[in-house]
Amino acid sequence: MTRILSVENLSKRFMDGNQERLVLDDVSFVVESGTALAVCGPSGCGKSTLLNLIAGILEPDAGRIVLNSGSDEIDYASLTRIEKTQVRRKHLGYVFQFFNLVPTLTVRENVLLPLELNGSEHLERASLDRLAALGLADREDDFPESLSGGERQRTAIARALAHEPVLVLADEPTGNLDAGNAQTVAQLLWREVLALGGGLVIATHNESIASMANHVLRLNC
Ligand SMILES: Nc1ncnc2c1ncn2[C@@H]1O[C@H](COP(=O)(O)OP(=O)(O)O)[C@@H](O)[C@H]1O
Ligand SMILES: [Mg+2]
Repeated sequence: MTRILSVENLSKRFMDGNQERLVLDDVSFVVESGTALAVCGPSGCGKSTLLNLIAGILEPDAGRIVLNSGSDEIDYASLTRIEKTQVRRKHLGYVFQFFNLVPTLTVRENVLLPLELNGSEHLERASLDRLAALGLADREDDFPESLSGGERQRTAIARALAHEPVLVLADEPTGNLDAGNAQTVAQLLWREVLALGGGLVIATHNESIASMANHVLRLNC
């Protein structure tokens, strides 16, 4: 197993009116290849904030984030904003609760979008094979609005994995699905991340999904 992500002593504050609020207080963990970390805790306790820090969308107030991809060791502190965006596009996949598919693009176009942004069109065949493995081969030309919730999330998974990221961040990816679909989608997400040999960080309220992870980080409010 290789270390994909190191998070050391991470803290993040937000202004809440005139008052500062410490949302993340000295959080540390590592994610190794082939493992999943579940981030649990009540609404408002900082799960999305943590994922957005790992995605390089937010800046921490203290602490260190290092991503390892192949032989590259990427310390976020040394990156400009543009470099962080490049790191996110190349090395990270993001799956959201509300899918965030582009409504004017077909399923196929949504899935291939990250390859266009990255200039990694050579992964097109593998991406469409993954879409088929997720049970959506016959929905390629359909638009997101014609899909069920489970189908939308499976499309979002195929999109998040298209560029074969080393780390996948999933923010309550099953929060908008019924219990049966939630379990199925979480299992498919995990299976596809494992197939790539990557790591998964999944924020979830759902204890049965958290129990699928190798490690659980509990955030307190
Ligand atoms: N950009 C922001 N500015 C100010 N406060 C924020 C911002 N983003 C999140 N917060 C606050 O930080 C806390 C944690 O939010 P969040 O990470 O979204 O929690 P969770 O995902 O666990 O529900 C909440 O109190 C939220 O209101
Ligand atoms: Mg959240």
